[in-house]
Amino acid sequence: MTQQTRKLRSVVKGVGSALPRRCVTNRELESQVDTSDAWIVQRTGITQRYIAGEGETTASLGTEAARMAMARAGCGPEDIDLIICATSTPDLTFPSVATMIQAELGVRGGVAFDLQAVCAGFVFAVATADKFLISGSHKRALVIGAETFSRILDWKDRTTCVLFGDGAGALVLEAQEGEGTNADRGVLAARLRSDGRYKSKLYVDGGPSTTGTAGCVRMEGKEVFRFAVGHVTDVMVDSFADTGLTVEDLNWFVPHQANQRIIDASAQKLGIAPQKVVKTVQLHGNTSAASIPLALNVACEDGRIKPGDLVMIEAIGGGFTWGAALIRW
Ligand code: ACO
Repeated sequence: MTQQTRKLRSVVKGVGSALPRRCVTNRELESQVDTSDAWIVQRTGITQRYIAGEGETTASLGTEAARMAMARAGCGPEDIDLIICATSTPDLTFPSVATMIQAELGVRGGVAFDLQAVCAGFVFAVATADKFLISGSHKRALVIGAETFSRILDWKDRTTCVLFGDGAGALVLEAQEGEGTNADRGVLAARLRSDGRYKSKLYVDGGPSTTGTAGCVRMEGKEVFRFAVGHVTDVMVDSFADTGLTVEDLNWFVPHQANQRIIDASAQKLGIAPQKVVKTVQLHGNTSAASIPLALNVACEDGRIKPGDLVMIEAIGGGFTWGAALIRW
């Protein structure tokens, strides 16, 4: 008889999301920049995005998403001892968005910090929270992806401004003892990568230590596309290898929602059936670190993702940074 070793797992207890009040369609953008609904849909799949208005910030959206996730997890401020917020668009250079959210939620204990890995931020945050939880040092984590990319866009640059949107999503992860098998609920594997040589392909042309301004997103779209399709599947293959699970075992693939063509090409490369792919890029645009938890929330609310399902999250972002995680829901 094989002896299994019991093991702490980071189990999803609740999911939540938040979007700004204002929805901006492709048609509306046609009156602002030289673009067309047909071009945007054909090249990206995006039909609309949400844009933050007065009083709506990364911290306010992150707080709203966190509240929803906590309510669904049935936990209060006293239950949370770790908050990680993935963002590249903080309200202020410091303090962190995570500490602002901590204060708003009334969480008085534990630790809160931001994590910056651009569009891969949420996967990096899940992997980081998992390390804390499975070490036994912390019990319950809020993992948030929150962004207001609309505030770092050059609204005269049609090659970038049509692609992005604002929003936030959150998960409550709780340390629970499992059997140490792939049947356990929780994060089963996570693989992260970075390669700083690609800075010029996707970056923001400002910052506190250079221009003293927030700057705007600059991107060589074709290069990002090529790298994404070429490399992001590596971390997915590695995550499967870590567990011995395969694409056949997967119930849902929830990739970063940057572009429908990147999503389709990645799924196809790994042989993931189209009906297992969760796509929300058409509704939200690219919301960077918020895109995966926003998509998770949609797929949980509409009943697709259920407890026990095997879910793969995956993302690539500026740096480049990229990663994947396999989660038994
Ligand atoms: N509306 C109309 N025409 C446009 C627009 C627009 N919004 N933007 C560019 N064009 C034009 C270009 O000027 C070009 O015209 P030309 O042929 O006369 O020169 C033509 O459309 C084709 O442009 P390409 O850049 O070749 O278009 P492509 O098919 O590569 O699509 C896109 C561009 C959508 C940006 C694509 O390259 C892409 O999706 N790349 C990946 C981007 C991405 O996912 N970024 C996020 C990464 S995650 C993160 O960390 C932020």
